[in-house]
Order: sequence, then C-alpha cells, then structure tokens
Amino acid sequence: MTTDMPDVEWEPLRLAATAALASAYAPYSKFPVGAAARLEDGSIVAGCNVENASYGLTLCAECTMVGALRMNGGGLITEFYCVDGNGAILMPCGRCRQLLFEFSTAETRLMTSSGVKTMDEVLPDAFGPRDLGRLAVAPAEG
Ligand code: THU
Repeated sequence: MTTDMPDVEWEPLRLAATAALASAYAPYSKFPVGAAARLEDGSIVAGCNVENASYGLTLCAECTMVGALRMNGGGLITEFYCVDGNGAILMPCGRCRQLLFEFSTAETRLMTSSGVKTMDEVLPDAFGPRDLGRLAVAPAEG
C-alpha cells in the first residue's frame, strides 16, 4: 500500500465523487455511483453512472468521468476516488480500471477499500497504448 498524500488532499475528491451521486441515473440497479479524479493541472473532474433499459449498455461513473476529462481539455489523472450510494469507497470494476489506465501514469494513485494504491497494483501488466505501438512497428505480412 502506498500512502504519500495527506488525507486533506483526498477530501476534495471524496466530496466531488459524493456530489456526483446526485446526478446518477440508476433506476434498475438502484446502485448510484460517483467518481472523481484530480488531473495534473490540479483540476477535478467527476462522473456518475448512467443506466439504460438495455442493461448491458450501462455507463459506469468512470465512463462519464473520463468523458468529462476529455471535454474539459484532457489531461492525466493524478488521483482517483469512487463512492457508492452510501458514500463508501468503491473499487472500480475491471473494465473501468482499463478506462482509467488510459489516462494514468506510474504516479497515479487510487483510493481503494484497502488503502491508496497505484494503477499497477489494481491493473497489473495492463494492456495499453504501448502494446498497439508494438504492432504498428511490426513488418506487414502477406
Ligand atoms: N458501477 C459503476 O458506475 N462503476 C463501477 O466501477 C462499478 C459499477 C455501476 C454500474 C451500475 O450502474 C451499478 O454500478 C451496479 O453495477
């Protein structure tokens, strides 16, 4: 576990994630989720889950948060915090760990139910942009 940031720095993220719960659309699961991230420039973006009558099309809170990240000028995540409807820390689902990885660095920290963790700790040996690059430099066949 890596704890290198005072609690006070996490509090704005916890508050932003909790505030995002108010926008959640979760009539099917009745499980609202709020997510927030601090970017390298210090700004904070947030997101909420948005469900759909076609259940599998549900957008997790991290999906809308990443959309907000891009819509607000882009950037990389330094810290991430996700909460359930009770305001308790929620682990990002597997798919959302991949979404977060895209905009993370080795320094990115996530608040988890078992303490502060790095992206590599929650998504080891991640597939990412570099893997695509490897294929791009491979000689074409046929
Ligand atoms: N959910 C998220 O928003 N993020 C996660 O990382 C885990 C799951 C949402 C999706 C669905 O609307 C509800 O939680 C129940 O699975």
